[in-house]
Amino acid sequence: MRRLVAETTLERRQLILPMFIREDAREPIAINSMPGVYQHTRDTARKAIAEAAQLGLGGVMLYGVPSSKDEVGSGALDPNGILNVAIRDAVQEVGDDLLVMSDLCLDEFTSHGHCGVLDSAGRVDNDATLAIYAEMGVAQAEAGAHVVGPSGMMDGQVGAIRTALDAAGFVDTVILAYAVKYASAFYGPFREAIGSSLKGDRKTYQQDSANAREAIREVDLDVAEGADIVMVKPALAYLDIIRQVRDHVNIPVAAYNISGEYAMVEAAAANGWIDRDRAIMETLNSIRRAGADTILTYWAAEAAQLLDQR
Ligand code: PBG
Repeated sequence: MRRLVAETTLERRQLILPMFIREDAREPIAINSMPGVYQHTRDTARKAIAEAAQLGLGGVMLYGVPSSKDEVGSGALDPNGILNVAIRDAVQEVGDDLLVMSDLCLDEFTSHGHCGVLDSAGRVDNDATLAIYAEMGVAQAEAGAHVVGPSGMMDGQVGAIRTALDAAGFVDTVILAYAVKYASAFYGPFREAIGSSLKGDRKTYQQDSANAREAIREVDLDVAEGADIVMVKPALAYLDIIRQVRDHVNIPVAAYNISGEYAMVEAAAANGWIDRDRAIMETLNSIRRAGADTILTYWAAEAAQLLDQR
């Protein structure tokens, strides 16, 4: 009876698996704060991507972990940089059977760990960063990315990337805009996952958890600049924002079930304090119920299998 009348659906095709590929890894390296998640080698990433396609997931979101970084994040533009290489591997592996998405941000590549380049006073330089994002978007499209995901929260990033993609002839590349992104404590484990060098915080470019109207303004800007999908991130502390965004726009809405949300459930389950599988499904259901069309989650592959057991 419950199955017959359930209001909310959760399907494999709605799930996107974020993955980390580490340049100098010879075997998968466990991420302590995210049990079950690894920094992949190129080979193991290919296997995991093939599996994601087999499972019928909606896509993978790739993050690169480079072996060297600099002030301006040069590795992000290098066609032989780890992320661009991983995109090419992925597309070669799955072709058009699975959407290959790539993170479009500098924080994995900069020695200071910020999402943009810094000015002479050490502040994030929004407009200088836009020029680099534009080139990065083209580099990722050249590598074959179906979808690019600008996550750096620079003002004007979607427009700059869209213009550059169009000029380079990549008129079919989709922009999944991290439109609403709060400065969150829940990104903690992700910093380990990408070996982040960040000291300080991102409060000059990410949002204040006290604000909801600001989220709608961020969404409007990204839609006007040419976003195809808008994302809300994190998910669980912002379910109200997901609902408001879903009710406000007519394009697909994604939500990111982020590293800290994953780690909390894993840690509690490891202690025997909660039922892990039920907590996973309840989490994903809540994000769908709030209005997200698609969910980025580190549980994507596992959830696909749990779905069969309902
Ligand atoms: C920035 C980026 C972050 C995440 C995804 N892209 C971290 C940040 O903004 O500090 C976090 C994802 C997660 O916590 O799972 N490139």
